[in-house]
Amino acid sequence: MTITNHFPRGFLWGTATASHQVEGNNTNNNWYAWEQAGHTRDKSGLACDWWGGRWKEDMERAAETGQNTHRFSIEWSRVQPTPDRWDESAIEKYRSMARGMVERGLTPLVTLHHFSDPLWLYEQCGWETEAVLPCFEKYARKMAEALKEYVSTWVTINEPNVYALNGYVAADFPTCPQGHKGMAVALRVLANMLRGHAAAYRALHEIQPEAHVGYALHYRPMVAARPWFPLDALMRKIQYDGINMAFPSAISSGVMKSPLGKVNIPEAKGLQDFVGLNYYSVDTVKFDWSARKELFGRRYYPADSDFSTNKFIANIPCGLFDSVRWAAETYPDTPIVITENGVEDADDKLRPRYLAQHLQQLWRAVNFNYPVKGYYHWSLVDNFEWERGWSQRFGLWGLDVETQARIRRPSVDLYAEICRENGISDEMVEKYCPEVREKMFPGRNVAP
Ligand code: GAL
Repeated sequence: MTITNHFPRGFLWGTATASHQVEGNNTNNNWYAWEQAGHTRDKSGLACDWWGGRWKEDMERAAETGQNTHRFSIEWSRVQPTPDRWDESAIEKYRSMARGMVERGLTPLVTLHHFSDPLWLYEQCGWETEAVLPCFEKYARKMAEALKEYVSTWVTINEPNVYALNGYVAADFPTCPQGHKGMAVALRVLANMLRGHAAAYRALHEIQPEAHVGYALHYRPMVAARPWFPLDALMRKIQYDGINMAFPSAISSGVMKSPLGKVNIPEAKGLQDFVGLNYYSVDTVKFDWSARKELFGRRYYPADSDFSTNKFIANIPCGLFDSVRWAAETYPDTPIVITENGVEDADDKLRPRYLAQHLQQLWRAVNFNYPVKGYYHWSLVDNFEWERGWSQRFGLWGLDVETQARIRRPSVDLYAEICRENGISDEMVEKYCPEVREKMFPGRNVAP
């Protein structure tokens, strides 16, 4: 007898991508400038050549392997190359991409902003000033008009917390030509992103009243290294609030709260039709005098973790359940979508069990009646991983960057079986990651 953990009917099964990471030849944005200045391990180059047309074959792959949705992003710098000009041919291309997805049975979910900014915006210091707000709103309107025929679910901004912290605090991401840095400006950027989210939310709804609009939060559950030690607990709280809570607090109350202060943004209150969660792992936080840069709270993974290739991610599946529970308790009656989850693993040794175990935790969450509507695996195919370049391989499909060949990893077939079954079974686990079968389906060796 097979045991299957089934998901609700109509569950969304997909993968997620972002324009700069897959399109290639994106020469008109801040990331291109950052790459040229030598701040990244590699250059994005042709990426996955989606702009050259390979999105079609990748969507073919997604559809043939049972997926029913795809999350992708629009490259703002392509549709608005200069502040005074829309590139209608680029917009038409995005229309054909969205149409192409619909034709293949993939419901498109569109992200308007996924880390990359047009060069002209970068040159005027992007999200540091409120000058960005009317621009972002116009862009949102333009895209809503262009895509409303095919798209009704929107992510306004991807991971505003990562954008602000990786840029203005860690200096791994581009900020502005002057290289501004610091907590104060990071907070200003977050506040403007919230205002931008609110403006785009309203604009999208005005044009498309039935739209579902949210943003994607990079949510990191955290645990204190020594729960009995007050300083670890305090550091955990500071890190947790600092990294996770700016956007969520403003959506709940209209006040953006952070350990560094509060900003009133009443117009953002309540503006999300679904909670978009990007979940990758859980951090352990320890008080550490030497971690000045991290405000004395060192974040790390325990040494005995189930690590990814570059130790960038530890496989901690229950963190996904905890993330969903947090979302459900914070925003009652709001649908939840896992907008990203995945692991870097070129050899596909860890990914099958990472996938299986996370999906079983998601199934657990569904059985608590938490309103989870969909899951987007990061990612469909290896793509350009920002400052880490090509050193991290997150694709179900591998990519040979030189030849553009796609490599079918075993996880492609595991995910296909899950999508088709709308559930995950002990047989699938036995086939693709037998090492966790007993853990996931205990007692299966017992005779009936
Ligand atoms: C997320 C980001 C994605 C992707 C992923 C894996 O933070 O939204 O663009 O890079 O991490 O590193």
